[in-house]
Amino acid sequence: MDKLLIRGGRRLEGTVQIVGAKNAALPAIAAALLSGEKLTLANLPDVVDVATMLTLLGHYGVTTERTASSVTLDAGAAQNAEAPYDIVRRMRATLLVLGPLLARFGTARVSLPGGCAIGARPVDLHLKALATLGGTIDLDAGYINAKAPGGLTGARIVLGSPSVGATETALMAATLARGETEIMNAARDPEVADLASCLVAMGAHIEGAGSHRILVQGGRTLRAARHDIVPDRIEAGTYAIAAAITGGHLELTGARLEHLAAVGEALERTGVRIWPTDRGLMVARDGALRGLDITTEPYPGFPTDLQAQFMALMAIADGASMIRETVFETRFMHVPELNRLGANVTLQGTSALVRGVKSLRGAPVMATDLRASVSLVLAGLVAEGETVINRVYHLDRGYEALDRKLVRCGADIRRVA
Ligand code: UD1
Repeated sequence: MDKLLIRGGRRLEGTVQIVGAKNAALPAIAAALLSGEKLTLANLPDVVDVATMLTLLGHYGVTTERTASSVTLDAGAAQNAEAPYDIVRRMRATLLVLGPLLARFGTARVSLPGGCAIGARPVDLHLKALATLGGTIDLDAGYINAKAPGGLTGARIVLGSPSVGATETALMAATLARGETEIMNAARDPEVADLASCLVAMGAHIEGAGSHRILVQGGRTLRAARHDIVPDRIEAGTYAIAAAITGGHLELTGARLEHLAAVGEALERTGVRIWPTDRGLMVARDGALRGLDITTEPYPGFPTDLQAQFMALMAIADGASMIRETVFETRFMHVPELNRLGANVTLQGTSALVRGVKSLRGAPVMATDLRASVSLVLAGLVAEGETVINRVYHLDRGYEALDRKLVRCGADIRRVA
């Protein structure tokens, strides 16, 4: 298993190309199952989670033609089958095939998913949405069995909370359901809006994606399409924090500041400058970093997927910061590891009190999820001496060429087998 060896203390300078969002690519790949014609996805990130999703689709007989940054999926000869536990356990987003399979084939059997260890991640909202569209769902021995022999029917779905995945499940299933579907309390994330644009390119009729009420006129046959995946706001936010933590400046090409409004505002309040450019956005820090309290919230609030990285930044800020996590309440696996690097973080229920320290010291660390791992890389960029990041496969799940991109901007990082 690969490790990263980081020698901290270098300011980052240069340009980072932001790729398509993993969290937009995964549902778009699942959406290929809705149609018998080809779907081409461009600006596809080269990350392990995308490869896992493509492997899962291959299992259903979907053929894929891949280039460096795009894929053409052909589900013309797709057949329904059981989603095997061995693939599904690797990633929670594999659950996104459930809605399309049920909508197209009238039946689906998918293992309950695995994925990052970030607390209880129930699937009740996905199942309830499909049941509202007329599916019959039961759970048996770790599998979800869903049936709708006469097809799904449009309905009013009210999500108990604005789950990203459940909104996507409902949206995809609704495109083939007969009649109109209204999704209330929908997630407003750019990745949901991007899935809707992909479905519209395929011929679906959708209004309101990106707001909390989405309307779908279903029952159309979806056709061949091409779609560009939206740039990854979490990758962009991570590199923005890399620039900030090292006191450097980076231009993030392709990044969209409007998708990072809450993050940009938080960074500015800590003393970081962030502004749009013709090609993306620019991030720079020259002065001191100030501690700041933040609370994670559903989009457009501060994203839970940048909480760990922001905590690494606050670890070396002047003063104290309170970081409250409201989306995944136990998402704090990075705290003991940041403390091993010399941070002073105390957990108090769903909040973390971060008392800023003057400097961090390198040490061997290990993380159990994607964003926790990258927060340790960020801390390693400023820690004195050498930081060894174990279990790099978590990073490879969601960041394309992370170490290479950082090295190009001046970081001292080596990947060893
Ligand atoms: C997606 C993102 C993930 C991000 C998360 C929140 C993908 C592939 N992953 O995950 O990176 O951290 O959004 O922005 O897009 N919940 C339920 N029942 C359900 C579904 C969710 O109670 O059926 C709860 C979850 O436990 C969690 C909250 O809702 O507390 C938000 O989860 P959700 O928005 O569904 O996250 P994911 O779609 O899994």
